[in-house]
Amino acid sequence: MTVQRLFPTLVYRTVLQNARAFNQRLLRECLQLRVDDVGGQRWSGKNYPGGYTSYNSVNRMHEVSPTFAELQRRLQRHVRSFASSLDFDLAQRELTMTDCWVNIMPRQVVHSLHLHPLSTLSGTYYVKTPKGCPGLKFEDPRLDRFMAAPPRTGASRPWVVIPAQAGTLVLFESWLRHEVPPNPVAAERISISFNYSWF
Ligand code: NI
Repeated sequence: MTVQRLFPTLVYRTVLQNARAFNQRLLRECLQLRVDDVGGQRWSGKNYPGGYTSYNSVNRMHEVSPTFAELQRRLQRHVRSFASSLDFDLAQRELTMTDCWVNIMPRQVVHSLHLHPLSTLSGTYYVKTPKGCPGLKFEDPRLDRFMAAPPRTGASRPWVVIPAQAGTLVLFESWLRHEVPPNPVAAERISISFNYSWF
């Protein structure tokens, strides 16, 4: 008798090596960007209440900042490794970073359930994660097909939270829905998100 796991959903997680000083540089640039990015402040005011994101304003940070370009270089081997775990056939084309933006979540700010529809792989790198700040909550992509299903426990539970930890990288396929629950602590949670595409 065998029980096979078909069509698994993979999430990649790793700690970047020697990232302490590098994180300090990223942190300074994230905070400075919030000050300088007037368009992003305005957009965040409407679409990210209480928080700041450069998602709609400065969303190619890897092309404008040498520090973020270094982040892109540091991510490269992990993206390749994850693509290999996913059995992607990338013989003809490479995965390329298309977007890279900053997210700052003060207390009570939330990032509701979403996916990244125009991308292949997405991910987040954590720059500052005060104790007690929320993680990244993933939803089972089969949830809308569960008919008459009993509650699931353990590894089969329909929502899984990956803790946010400074210096940690999380990668996932862009179709996988996720959210950041409200930040309950009186300190800012700062992360950098990115998309990769192969076409
Ligand atoms: Ni996202």
